Amino acid sequence: MLGPVILAASRSDRMRRLISAAPVTKQVVDRFIPGEDVDDIVPVVRDLADDGLELTMDVVGEDITNPAQAAAARDAYLELVDRLKPLELGTRAEMSVKLSMFGQALEDGHELALKNVRPVVEAAAEIGTTVTLDAEDHTTLDSMFAIHEELRKDFPQTGCVIQAYLFRTEADARRLAASGSRVRLVKGAYKEPASVAYQDKHEIDRAYVRILRTLMEGEGYPMIGSHDPRLIAIGQELAHQAGRKLDEYEFQMLYGIRTEEHRRLAAEGHRMRVYTAYGTDWYGYFMRRLAEKPANLRFFARSMLTK
Ligand code: FDA
Repeated sequence: MLGPVILAASRSDRMRRLISAAPVTKQVVDRFIPGEDVDDIVPVVRDLADDGLELTMDVVGEDITNPAQAAAARDAYLELVDRLKPLELGTRAEMSVKLSMFGQALEDGHELALKNVRPVVEAAAEIGTTVTLDAEDHTTLDSMFAIHEELRKDFPQTGCVIQAYLFRTEADARRLAASGSRVRLVKGAYKEPASVAYQDKHEIDRAYVRILRTLMEGEGYPMIGSHDPRLIAIGQELAHQAGRKLDEYEFQMLYGIRTEEHRRLAAEGHRMRVYTAYGTDWYGYFMRRLAEKPANLRFFARSMLTK
């Protein structure tokens, strides 16, 4: 069971220093994170959009320690919005944000995160697009959902993420589906204790299907965030059963993972959104991708050894 070990390492400063400084790491990181700054990422956005794909953009960097870094994160997103504006993609390029990056874990973090994220949501709306709040570990979620609700008063299109592995999520899904929200459903990527989350893969998959049914039958806009071929097929079936048209739900996958599937779904007429992360502080994001698939770790270790 390598996944939990890697997730524990994702919180270790010592491992962060070691891995970030390793000479070959960057090559492996590039598979998942196609750029360090906004200049790198604009051509990537253009290419994916030209291929008929939609995007949600993530500036990586959740581990901030002071309000100045939270303000810098806000400014990085504002710059991204500025650079997206001339592309005129509207909702075809939206933003995903982690509230931790906007200061949520600092003193008075709830208010600080809300204060920092609001201008990003406003700027996104000005260019005809929107923002989705990512889900982080379970201790952050009450604050995330409260911020989501607050933002939706002025910007009803603001989305949020729910995680199938958490026991609480079925109730969250019912509430969000009734309120007509955009909701991305994922399995969940953090190390969570058995007191709050399913630990067994099959139980998580079964919960995913139950929750997806609730979203499909509800009033909102479901976003199926998964690379799992079974869940993708079930998602299509549930959408069909609920009488949803192709533009009344969407699929989402991460940049660099099952890219042939991105194109297959788009070619079939589905809305297919690619979660595209960029930035220099990629450690936490990268480690979660390693934890999801142990083969990634073997590839990473081999590249270190053969250097
Ligand atoms: P699963 O892990 O079973 O993977 C199915 C198949 O996909 C694998 O067999 C493999 O082929 C491929 N695959 C999956 N992950 C891979 C990887 N890292 N490298 C290579 N191949 C891989 N989580 C969270 O807690 N909060 C969030 O806000 C988000 N946001 C988010 C957005 C989007 C668009 C996606 C797709 C995912 C997230 N996640 C997330 C991550 C999510 O919780 C989960 O960890 C991953 O999606 C992996 O789960 P799958 O559903 O893909 O299934």
